[in-house]
Amino acid sequence: MTTWLSSLPNFLWGASTSSHQIEGFTDNDWTRWEKSGHVADHTRSGRATDHFRNPDPDLQLFHQMGWNAYRLSLEWSRIEPEPGHFSATAMAQYRHILLTLRALGITPVVTLHHFTLPTWFADRGGFFCPAADTHFLTYVAYVVEKFRDLASLWITINEPMVYAVMGYGQGVWPPGQTSLIKTRRLARRLVALHRESYRRIKELAPHAMVGLAHHLAIFEPYTQSWTDKTLARFVDTSFNWRFVEEIDAYQDFFGLNYYTRQWLKTSHGLQPVTTKPGVPVTDMGWEIYPDGLYHLLMRASRYQKPILITENGIATEDDTQRQRFLLEHLDRVAAAQRDGAEIRGYLHWSALDNFEWAEGYRPRFGLIAVDYESLRRTPRDSALLYRAVIRANQNRSGPINVPR
Ligand code: FCB
Repeated sequence: MTTWLSSLPNFLWGASTSSHQIEGFTDNDWTRWEKSGHVADHTRSGRATDHFRNPDPDLQLFHQMGWNAYRLSLEWSRIEPEPGHFSATAMAQYRHILLTLRALGITPVVTLHHFTLPTWFADRGGFFCPAADTHFLTYVAYVVEKFRDLASLWITINEPMVYAVMGYGQGVWPPGQTSLIKTRRLARRLVALHRESYRRIKELAPHAMVGLAHHLAIFEPYTQSWTDKTLARFVDTSFNWRFVEEIDAYQDFFGLNYYTRQWLKTSHGLQPVTTKPGVPVTDMGWEIYPDGLYHLLMRASRYQKPILITENGIATEDDTQRQRFLLEHLDRVAAAQRDGAEIRGYLHWSALDNFEWAEGYRPRFGLIAVDYESLRRTPRDSALLYRAVIRANQNRSGPINVPR
């Protein structure tokens, strides 16, 4: 079992975001994808929540909400707008954000790649470009060297399998390809890239804890037929666990993103059916299934690494639904802890309402509401409820205590 750094809080409580979804005014492959009309209602991310220009009020708000941790991602396209040219202005702003977080007693969890690519890198073929590893590792080494004094929890890649499937399998994210073979090849490339990044980060920051945010879903057979069952097992292995197995020797903690359960039906092939009639769903149409989190935490704990829940959340206009979601999922976290899983943190998705990729701005994932006209922030009741849970658990060791 990897040991948890004594300099870190015993349990991390907070929320997550990613650069492209909140920062505003980015110039990357997604910006281009939006311009070419690929997002619902032809939406563009535009100024988003304008967080990058004016981060301080948000960071103060995170502190007021009682968080001791915050997961953010660095925008590679800002930091390295041209190959080998690094932006001092972007780095200064990220340094300011990290310094402010630390001054507020908030532990940063820093993601290096969260779906977006600099256009110069995308134009060379993205992670398929022959020099992809050199380019990515140059960026990684650059930022880790600059920020190793401020961050000790690093996530190399967010949800590699989702990234591969959406961009190269289903073609709904850039670069819009639909090839199973490429999806598989990309996943293999990302395994290699993660391993290399892990090594490089550990060389530069030996005490850092380095991991990856795995998106895990529950996959179940739609019927009890032999074929549906086999298909569900196959998708579970290839989407959830193969990647984990291949990088397990290269992760100091297990980063877990959990949202939903999906069903496999032979007539639909590899494309899961997202719900069954009658199940409760979110505004994304995703089933709400808290027990799934328990099962995945127990399964992930077989890898004998401290587990960090790096995302878990709900798109809904109805905040009472979010409150229920939060408590039900935290209750399952506590159950997994009682059954032996070493869970070191819960980071809700998301801190703020934000740009939800191909769905645009309609889904509301934030604990803090954002009025996109005035840019005003308003903590939702769910954020206040979350704060009460955090306060009740401050300085506790052992399983978290969740009100019913
Ligand atoms: C995850 C992504 C995150 C966000 C949530 C809803 O798959 O990592 O950026 O879009 O889903």
